[in-house]
Amino acid sequence: MKIITTTNNVQGGVEAFKIFKHEIENGAKVLGLATGSTPVTLYQELAASSLDTSNLISINLDEYVGLTPDNDQSYHYFMQQHLFAKKPFKKTYIPDGIKAINDPEGAAVDYDKIIAENPIDVQLLGIGQNGHIAFNEPGTSFDSTTHEVTLTENTIKANSRFFSNIDDVPKSAICMGIANIMSAKKIVIMAFGANKAKAIKAMISGPVIEDVPASILQKHPDVTVIVDSAAASELNK
Ligand code: GLP
Repeated sequence: MKIITTTNNVQGGVEAFKIFKHEIENGAKVLGLATGSTPVTLYQELAASSLDTSNLISINLDEYVGLTPDNDQSYHYFMQQHLFAKKPFKKTYIPDGIKAINDPEGAAVDYDKIIAENPIDVQLLGIGQNGHIAFNEPGTSFDSTTHEVTLTENTIKANSRFFSNIDDVPKSAICMGIANIMSAKKIVIMAFGANKAKAIKAMISGPVIEDVPASILQKHPDVTVIVDSAAASELNK
C-alpha cells in the first residue's frame, strides 16, 4: 500500500483529486464513489476543477434501505448535492434502497450486474471506526457481493450525527460486497481524524481478517491510503 500523509482533510482532498485527475486523463471511465464526510473535500476539488466528467460512469458503494432519493439523508441526495449537480456524469449508479425494502436480493443482483458490465477503474473508499468499508461490517465474508446489511449499533451511532434523531437512522443498507470492491483496478482510501487511527493501523499492519473488513486491502495490488496526521498517529507505534 502506498501511504500519503497530509496535514488535514482539505490537503487530503487535493491529493486524492490529483490521483483521480491522473487516472481520468489516462483513460479511467468508471469511478467507484463513496459517501460520508471523508470524501467531501475531494468532491469540492472535483467540482471546482475544469475536469470533464461528462463521459464518466459512477457507481456508488451503498444506500440506506427505505430512503427515497429526495430524502436529504439518502446517499442519492448526498451525491447530488456534493458532486452530480455540479459535475454531470454520463451515468450514475447508486443501489436502489427502495426496491430493497421488499426485494433486497433483486436489488443486489441488479447492482452486481451493473458492476460486472462496468468494471471499476478507480474505487474511492472511506473507513468506519470499526474498520468497515462501505457498510461491510466486521465479520462480512471477503467473498461477498452486493447484499443487504443490518447496521451495527456502532455504525448507527456514528452516522446518527447526520440525522436529527438516532431513531431516524435506517437499520439496514444495501451495499457492494468486499469482492466487488476488490475487483476495482485501483483503490484510493481516505481517512481523517484521530477517531480513525486505530482502524487505519489495523487495516495497514494488522492481520488480514474478516473482523477488520478493510484489512483485505493488503491483498490488493494497487491501493493508495490518504490520511491526515491524526489518522496516521497509530502507525509508528
Ligand atoms: C458510513 C459509510 C461508509 C463511510 C463511513 C465513514 O458507514 N457507509 O462508506 O466510509 O460511514 O464515514 P465518514 O467518512 O463520515 O467518517
